[in-house]
Amino acid sequence: MAKDPVRVLVTGAAGQIGYALVPMIARGVMLGLDQPVILHMLDIPPAAESLNGVKMELIDAAFPLLKGVVATTDAVEACTGVNIAVMVGGFPRKEGMERKDVMSKNVSIYKSQASALEKYAAANCKVLVVANPANTNALILKEFAPSIPEKNITCLTRLDHNRALGQIAERLNIQVSDVKNVIIWGNHSSTQYPDVNHATVKTPGGEKPARELVAADDWLKGEFITTVQQRGAAIIKARKLSSALSAASAACDHIRDWVLGTPEGTWVSMGVYSDGSYNVPAGLIYSFPVTCRNGEWTIVQGLPIDEFSRKKMDATAVELTEEKALAYSCLS
Ligand code: NAD
Ligand code: LMR
Repeated sequence: MAKDPVRVLVTGAAGQIGYALVPMIARGVMLGLDQPVILHMLDIPPAAESLNGVKMELIDAAFPLLKGVVATTDAVEACTGVNIAVMVGGFPRKEGMERKDVMSKNVSIYKSQASALEKYAAANCKVLVVANPANTNALILKEFAPSIPEKNITCLTRLDHNRALGQIAERLNIQVSDVKNVIIWGNHSSTQYPDVNHATVKTPGGEKPARELVAADDWLKGEFITTVQQRGAAIIKARKLSSALSAASAACDHIRDWVLGTPEGTWVSMGVYSDGSYNVPAGLIYSFPVTCRNGEWTIVQGLPIDEFSRKKMDATAVELTEEKALAYSCLS
């Protein structure tokens, strides 16, 4: 029997990630090739015409799984009945703006969209925040949507995770699908800690630690980390626009694994509400290694953490604590 359609909200759908993401969702990349979807697309009034153009293209693409499209500038209409919300909309940093100005704009957007989701989304709606500052926007959304379970509010660090897999694969000249279990700890920012200590590589002789195969400790502790941390900036420099196709693809990976489960023996990185695991302060949205089953994520426990990692995990937590304080100061 055919499945009932799942309603997926994409905010900022007229933007460049939105333009890459909505066809992926409509093709079944996010939820599976047997899962019909109804797309809800939200943007702001200046982008209404462009948003309508995206809707026209979705109709023209005749995606068999796409059972309906809502394109609107009304947050209530956009949020009504949605089962999954991918929050891509936000205010970009413009010339001459201070960090606090950008934070202030985004925090107020996420505060008001939190209320719309809380009131109108389907029960148990899963939320993924992509827009930057992703962790702190997700935290504000969580704080202002208290009836949405905190386990349902996450942010995207899967792009960083995939970038780390890609760097190891490039270095070893192997397929990226043969590398697994890197970890992104912390913030989706240049303080994030891409950790390769527990990563493994599939070889003809079985699974081997990535550290053993790469061997060059100075590369792993230096260039590997900075390349992943600064990849977003490198893409902006090269494209004059921030990453879009890789961000959209990572958003699909994040939701697909969350809903359908991670493969046995594999974890992924997700920004989730910290419960104090690994001595990360509770009350931050922090990226951890997680496994997913039955639509729920669980932080992977018990990984040994060396002194080098500890310092980097703490540094990114400090940045998130400062961002949280800044976000609250914008709201007061
Ligand atoms: P973009 O500027 O092309 O698109 C953003 C869209 O959001 C625009 O269409 C804009 O009109 C819309 N928007 C603004 N305010 C809105 C609101 N209140 N409600 C609904 N829509 C609103 O930007 P983009 O390149 O698509 O990037 C989107 C966001 O994702 C940015 O914040 C970017 O920094 C972030 N990003 C995050 C990651 C990640 O891995 N977490 C990766 C890449 C980009
Ligand atoms: C990315 O990681 O590609 C983006 O978050 C960069 C940005 O600042 O938009």
